[in-house]
Amino acid sequence: MSKRYAIVGTSGRSVSYIDAILDRHAAHAELVGFCDINQSRMDWHNARVKERHDAGPIPTYAASDFEKMLDEQRVDTAIVITTDSVHHEYIVRAMDAGRDVICEKPMTIDAPKAREIFEAIERTGRELRVTFNYRYAPICTQVREMIKGRAIGQPLAVQFQWMLNTAHGADYFRRWHATKANSGGLLVHKATHHFDLVNWWIDSYPELVYCLGDLKFYGKANAEARGERYDYERYTGSGHEETDPFALDLASEDGLKGLYLDAEQHDGYIRDRNVFGDHVDIEDTIALTARYRSGVVLSYCLLAYCPWEGMKVAVTGTKGRIEVSDLHGGHIIAGQSDEELAAEQGEGANQEVKVYPMFKPAYTVDLVAPEGGHGGGDNLLMDDILSPERGPDPLGRAASHVDGAASILMGIAANESIRTGQPILTDSLLKLPAKDAVGAV
Ligand SMILES: NC(=O)c1ccc[n+]([C@@H]2O[C@H](COP(=O)([O-])OP(=O)(O)OC[C@H]3O[C@@H](n4cnc5c(N)ncnc54)[C@H](O)[C@@H]3O)[C@@H](O)[C@H]2O)c1
Repeated sequence: MSKRYAIVGTSGRSVSYIDAILDRHAAHAELVGFCDINQSRMDWHNARVKERHDAGPIPTYAASDFEKMLDEQRVDTAIVITTDSVHHEYIVRAMDAGRDVICEKPMTIDAPKAREIFEAIERTGRELRVTFNYRYAPICTQVREMIKGRAIGQPLAVQFQWMLNTAHGADYFRRWHATKANSGGLLVHKATHHFDLVNWWIDSYPELVYCLGDLKFYGKANAEARGERYDYERYTGSGHEETDPFALDLASEDGLKGLYLDAEQHDGYIRDRNVFGDHVDIEDTIALTARYRSGVVLSYCLLAYCPWEGMKVAVTGTKGRIEVSDLHGGHIIAGQSDEELAAEQGEGANQEVKVYPMFKPAYTVDLVAPEGGHGGGDNLLMDDILSPERGPDPLGRAASHVDGAASILMGIAANESIRTGQPILTDSLLKLPAKDAVGAV
C-alpha cells in the first residue's frame, strides 16, 4: 500500500521532495496535500506538478487547516519544509494528531523549541526523522566508513572549515535567514550540517562550546565603515541587477518569479534584500572550539563571503590523519557566465581525500563520483526516506531527533557563548541521552 505524504512549507527546497515522490517513488508514495501560509506559492507548485509530472492538483490548505489536511487526506507522514523557526510547531501538531514527521534541517532553532519537540515525542510515541543530506554525499559517507573502520585509530581532534562564496553565502543575507529569530543564525541554520557530520563521523555529541562570532562583511554598518553606499533596499527593479555583484534578480527566472516575486504581495516575504541593508543580525564570521563527550576537540570556522566555496576538514587520530578537501563551489569572478562557473565547479571535480597513516606512506582515496544536488546527497537521501523497504545501514545515516538536536545544540550553545562571552556546557541547555542509548530511526 502507498504511504501518504503531505508537505507543509511549499518552499524552494520542497521541489526535491515533490519530484522524488512523483517520479522515482510513485509506486509506493503519494503526495496528498500542500500546506502553507501563502496560497500563491502552493499554486505555483501545483502548476509545476501539472507541467512536469502531468499530475495534481495536490489539495492545498491554509496553515490553520493543517490538522484538517492530515485528517481529510489521511496523511501518514508530514514533511516539514517551512522556514526554520516554525518547524517545531508543525512537528508537535502532526505528532499530537498521531502522525510521524520528516523534518528538514535544522530540526529547530533554540533549546525551548527543541524541548517542545522532545516532549511531543515522549507524549505521543511518534517518530521524527531529520534529513541530513550531506551524510549521503559520497565523499562524506566515505569519510564515515574510514573513521568507523579505524583508518586513523581513535579520533582525537577535528579541524573543520566551511567557506561560503559571494553568491551562495550572500543568499543567506538577502532573506529570512538574515535574522536570528527566523534561522538561529548560520551557527544553527547552516552549521547544523557541519556539526552533524562531525558528530556522526566521530560517533559522539558535543559537551562544551566556546565561540567567537561577528558580522564583519555584510550589513549596513560594515558597508558604511568601508565607505560603500547602498541606496536600494532590494535588487529587483533597482536598476543595479546587472552591475551589483551581490544582486539577485527575481524577475530573471521562472522559479524565482513564481515562488517569490509574484507571491510577496500575500505575505511580504522579500527574497532579494540588499545584503548591505540594516535587516541583518546574524554572524558572517565564526570561529568555534568545542570538546566532545568522547574527549575529541573540534576547531571550526565558517565564513560567508569567500571568493570560492567548499570545505576543508582534517580528522587526526591515534594512528593517523584524514584530510578532506571538497571545493564544490567555484571562484566567483566578475563577468563570468553561469556555464563557466558550472564548468569550474564540476561534479566532484575538486574533491580529494588523503590519508596519512602514522609512520606509513600517505595514500589518496578513490572517491565515488557524486550525482545531483548537495554533493550527490539529495537523491540518495530521498531514496532512503521514501523507499518502503530499507535494509539495515551499517553507517547509520538515518538521523533521529536526538541527532537533530545534537547538531543544533552546538550552534545554540555557540549563540549563547557569543552572547555571554563564556564557554557553555551543552547540558545546561538541553540534556541528550547517551549516544549508544539512541536507537536507529
Ligand atoms: N538540506 C538542505 O540542504 C536544504 C537546502 C535548502 C533548504 N533547506 C531547508 O528547507 C527549509 C525551507 O528552506 P527554503 O530556502 O526552501 O525556504 P523558502 O524561503 O523557499 O520557503 C519557506 C516556505 O515556508 C513557508 N512558511 C513560512 N512560515 C510558515 C508557517 N508559519 N506555516 C507554513 N508555512 C510557512 C513560506 O510561505 C515558504 O513557502 C528550511 O528549513 C531550510 O533549512 C534545506
